[in-house]
Amino acid sequence: MTLQTPIRQPGHPVDPLFPARWSPRAFSDAALTEGQVKVLLEAARWAPSAANHQPWRLVWALRGEPGFRAILDGLVPFNREWAEKAAALIVVASKDRMTGRDGAEADNRWAAFDSGAAWMSLALQAARDGLAAHAMGGFDATALAAALGLPEGHSLQAVVAVGHPGQPESLPEPLRAREVPSPRLALEEIAFHGRF
Ligand SMILES: Cc1cc2nc3c(=O)[nH]c(=O)nc-3n(C[C@H](O)[C@H](O)[C@H](O)COP(=O)(O)O)c2cc1C
Repeated sequence: MTLQTPIRQPGHPVDPLFPARWSPRAFSDAALTEGQVKVLLEAARWAPSAANHQPWRLVWALRGEPGFRAILDGLVPFNREWAEKAAALIVVASKDRMTGRDGAEADNRWAAFDSGAAWMSLALQAARDGLAAHAMGGFDATALAAALGLPEGHSLQAVVAVGHPGQPESLPEPLRAREVPSPRLALEEIAFHGRF
């Protein structure tokens, strides 16, 4: 995946993969194999986590499978409109309870943070594979939890649409105009030397 746009120019020499990854909504009709999805899931698997609890849980389905329709139906209409063209949908959930070193059950307050790391690993692997991955927080959590049989003590974090990049022209107009990579805050706005 290559991207040449002035608003995605890094201010310091990071790996080109970081600014090249972005979240398009246009997907081509090309399918993904189970093997291609497994590569993305494997990347997520290697994310770091607090005490190595690995709280991320991933539920995935390929377009055309009943599971895909179940995930799609859980999205808000805005997301459903474009995500239906994705080749796969991957739900990122978290297991929010953990067994501590003392053997006691406790909340894992890093479950969301660590699941975010897993999503980013997946997204970077997708970019490296020439695929588009687009996370969505716009879903009906109650409906999706029921459809997926989300176990007790787990939360839904995001749904990720994955596929081969498509043509922006394939999108309906309000989305087509938004099919451009986004800028970032300046480093000085987000990073502070010593203290806020
Ligand atoms: C947790 C999360 C939730 C998001 N929810 C949505 C969503 O519901 N619909 C959507 O179109 N994009 C969604 N996005 C995509 C963001 O808008 C996008 O990542 C952000 O604008 C940065 O752009 P980039 O990923 O292209 O660099 C979400 C992204 C994340 C990480």
